[in-house]
Amino acid sequence: MLTREESRKLLATYIDNENLRHHCEMVASAMEAYAQNLGLSESEIEDWWTAGLLHDLDWEKFPDEHPNHALENIFPEFGLPEPVTGAIRSHAPERTGKKPHSVIERYLFACDEISGFMHAVSLMRPNGFEDMQPKSVTKKMKDKRFAENVSREDIYEGANLINTELPEHIRFLISVFQK
Ligand SMILES: [Fe+2]
Ligand SMILES: [Fe+2]
Repeated sequence: MLTREESRKLLATYIDNENLRHHCEMVASAMEAYAQNLGLSESEIEDWWTAGLLHDLDWEKFPDEHPNHALENIFPEFGLPEPVTGAIRSHAPERTGKKPHSVIERYLFACDEISGFMHAVSLMRPNGFEDMQPKSVTKKMKDKRFAENVSREDIYEGANLINTELPEHIRFLISVFQK
């Protein structure tokens, strides 16, 4: 298993785009916060953080094979535990054929698209996340042209997968991203 420093080094090796690295950090923070909130062990919290940080590792260099390239050719050499690779595999079910089942898998799916969307919303606001409300986000979701590459369907499905009302999920993530 990689330390946080090693994971970040690996990320920097594969991703030049700062926005994409920022997205990975956001999802890692979201996963860590949820793992803590669920009262998981220290090692599980590390798994959750790592799954968040590395889930898009091969997106920049191998967009057509993502995330299968990382799963087959990068992760094996680092001995990532199954919960981490399973979560990364199932964050893109249409590409891997694996739907999210376990808790870590469900949460990674639930945190990915919404984090990207919330980041886009934060950029439109003078105070970013500071005074953001769930409504600021759900309203923007109805604007089809805003961040149009973010799947609204995946966002709703994610909230369902973690048995959380979407506004509540968003409220939790706002508190995470405010830090
Ligand atoms: Fe991805
Ligand atoms: Fe992502």
